Amino acid sequence: MILVTGGAGFIGANFVLDWIASTGEPVINLDVLTYAGNLESLASLAGDSRHLFVKGDICDRALIDRLLAEHRPHAIVHFAAESHVDRSIHGPAAFVKTNVEGTFTLLEAARQHWVPLPEPERSAFRFHHVSTDEVYGSLPPTAAPFTEEHLYEPNSPYSASKAASDHLVRAWHHTYGLPVLTTNCSNNYGPFHFPEKLIPLMIVNALAGKPLPVYGDGMQVRDWLYVKDHCSAIREVLARGKVGETYNVGGWNEKPNIEIVRTICALLDEMRPDPAGSYSRLIAYVKDRPGHDRRYAIDARKLERELQWKPAETFETGIRKTVRWYLDNAEWVARVQSGAYRDWVATNYSDRAVA
Ligand code: NAD
Ligand code: DAU
Repeated sequence: MILVTGGAGFIGANFVLDWIASTGEPVINLDVLTYAGNLESLASLAGDSRHLFVKGDICDRALIDRLLAEHRPHAIVHFAAESHVDRSIHGPAAFVKTNVEGTFTLLEAARQHWVPLPEPERSAFRFHHVSTDEVYGSLPPTAAPFTEEHLYEPNSPYSASKAASDHLVRAWHHTYGLPVLTTNCSNNYGPFHFPEKLIPLMIVNALAGKPLPVYGDGMQVRDWLYVKDHCSAIREVLARGKVGETYNVGGWNEKPNIEIVRTICALLDEMRPDPAGSYSRLIAYVKDRPGHDRRYAIDARKLERELQWKPAETFETGIRKTVRWYLDNAEWVARVQSGAYRDWVATNYSDRAVA
């Protein structure tokens, strides 16, 4: 089995579903369930013994030691993080705590677990760190996309905390030989995305007839990847990636934010027309994000060349599926908005033993 951290979050939940469906292998899912953790995203696994959920903090060393000793996972896939740039501007402490101290705690636990492992378990063990393109900073308009050799120039408390975690992972390999892998991915979108991030927020606000807040001039560029393609990239890197290496993951889909918002409006106009007129009437330019990075773009050729990975979705197919998913899953959205999703733990897990 594998140990996944943060498996109740957006990408983690997609990964847990994808992993069990494609490998059949069990997952221990360690997640403290912050506001971003939503076990309802994993409701389709209720009663499936291959999903073992443990509510706990990655800063809790004793708990991690116990999970590693009891379950002897052959890999740790580390998603758990504070992930929202805007929140990191308002309250950076939680980002340093979870992203830096939490990653440190996991690395130390993994190291002490891995060192005495007998062969072949020892050689097979992997620590896969899931990171972001934001560690590279902001690209000038005509500069080439980020390669794995690009300088680290993080600009927000979030990206600085992720950069720090990447450095710790690198050092634990270099100094202690821990078999690590790191992936730095661009912006994800798709099912189960918490509606405080750009794409789900725009869909949900449009359907509610609320303003669509576009920061600054809306010309900041992000490079979008459908979340299931990120999951397949992690599976490939975990299976065949070279220990100690980092791999950039992206879909070659650079788009200015305003284009994303207009595309969502056009898809909603087609799929759920509003008698009041096009959803684009709701677009509202608002005050910019402080320190807002202007452009991210990923060069994913290393992953393609070395591991033959390619995304399955184009932006056009992925965004259509995503808008469809939000239209078909109004209940999931409503329970996030009302806060009812937080009751799921009490409802579903009160009579289950924690591992
Ligand atoms: P998310 O905010 O949706 O989910 C994070 C999950 O981690 C939540 O379930 C939360 O409860 C859990 N968590 C937070 N603190 C924890 C702690 N101390 N102990 C245990 N669990 C904790 O995040 P996401 O968008 O799914 O991102 C997952 C990972 O991927 C992060 O490491 C992020 O930096 C990285 N990433 C995200 C994107 C993106 O576009 N969302 C792109 C590249 C990389
Ligand atoms: O690049 C990868 C990163 O992508 C991940 O590491 C982060 O965890 C993830 O949150 C995401 O960060 P961004 O800051 O790029 O995502 P967000 O959805 O918050 O914003 C995307 C862009 O849209 C960004 O330029 C800010 C802008 N934006 C965002 C919101 C929420 C708006 O214009 N209006 C909004 O209301």
